[in-house]
Amino acid sequence: MHAMFRDVKVIPVLTIEDAADAVPLARALAKGGLRVLEVTLRTPASLAALTAISREVPETTVGAGTVLRPSDVTRAREAGAKFLVSPGLTPDLAAAGLGTGLPFLPGAVTPSEIMSARDLGCSFLKFFPAEPAGGAAALRSFAAVFAGVAFCPTGGVNAGNLADYLSLPNVPLVGGSWMVPPDAVAARAWDRIEGAARDAVALAETYKLI
Ligand code: 3PG
Repeated sequence: MHAMFRDVKVIPVLTIEDAADAVPLARALAKGGLRVLEVTLRTPASLAALTAISREVPETTVGAGTVLRPSDVTRAREAGAKFLVSPGLTPDLAAAGLGTGLPFLPGAVTPSEIMSARDLGCSFLKFFPAEPAGGAAALRSFAAVFAGVAFCPTGGVNAGNLADYLSLPNVPLVGGSWMVPPDAVAARAWDRIEGAARDAVALAETYKLI
């Protein structure tokens, strides 16, 4: 796993509708202790949000999520993404993602997908959508079979099941949006998001002592 993620246990997954929210949101998360952030490329505002965080919130490390095609890799990199996350993997995407030299986390949820990803050179994988795909029980089974493969589960991870994931030997960190409630963003309640980030950090520290 890349050094960028060494002390990271929780990555907020941000789907930003209004680019003007990006900087205050990133600052609030950083103040709460979450400094590695993923901005999904799912909204028209996403690239502007990524660019703004990358330029204006240097205390954070921001990456791009929902990277689906090689063209997304190019756009994300140009916007300042420091890592790339995808829900899946194709050979073309692997070539583009790995070709950047940036940390690249493609998604895999079945044994064959994990084996394909590993063959393509990826051993730090996103496990998405984590809960529908079998959750912590599936990842526990993979730990016995896929030595050297680490997972970042996202999709349905929250304060209630964080411990199930972080207690696994093959799960160094998780991603999720539970600390960024849409109503808090809509209300620009940055203090509330800072507090939720702090709670997430405290909870993760409780369950991941290594
Ligand atoms: C992702 O893209 O990783 C997920 O949408 C985050 O999932 P969550 O909103 O269920 O935390």
